[in-house]
Amino acid sequence: MSKPKVKKHSVFRRNIDWIMLAIFFGAAILLTIAAYNPVIIEPDEGEILVYKRANCGCCQKWVEYLEENGFKVKVNTVASTAPIQNALNIPVNVRSCHTALINDFWVEGHVPAKNIETLIEEADKEVAGIAVPGMPPGSPGMESDNPQPYDVLMVHYSGEVSVMTP
Ligand code: CU
Ligand code: CU
Repeated sequence: MSKPKVKKHSVFRRNIDWIMLAIFFGAAILLTIAAYNPVIIEPDEGEILVYKRANCGCCQKWVEYLEENGFKVKVNTVASTAPIQNALNIPVNVRSCHTALINDFWVEGHVPAKNIETLIEEADKEVAGIAVPGMPPGSPGMESDNPQPYDVLMVHYSGEVSVMTP
């Protein structure tokens, strides 16, 4: 009589193990998806949404610069901007320390306010975004005693990259 009881118990135990394993792998898969496919939150009307790392000082300076220039800024603090840059297909050679979204465009790096205003005004549907690659000294948020000339690049959906004249 005790034999089937033991068997029943072991079957139950085995099911619990499978359930635990399924929960574990389910959670692991969801966490992986969350880490590699960040949900791109659309900026609200009239606001610029900035993705930056918590400890990025020059990013914070650029945020303050935008606010001083009349932009309504929302900051989204992330562990890394790379997944957002990847999701937006921002070319690797134009990437910088932070990525922003405004209307249907992305704005990468220390871009001057006037260029963002021009981007919004022209609203060219063939343009994906604009970028100041790297972090050139003298760009907004990168104030320096030794400023270097830099270009603001316009990246088209076609892959064409042109220098923006504000
Ligand atoms: Cu920076
Ligand atoms: Cu930055």
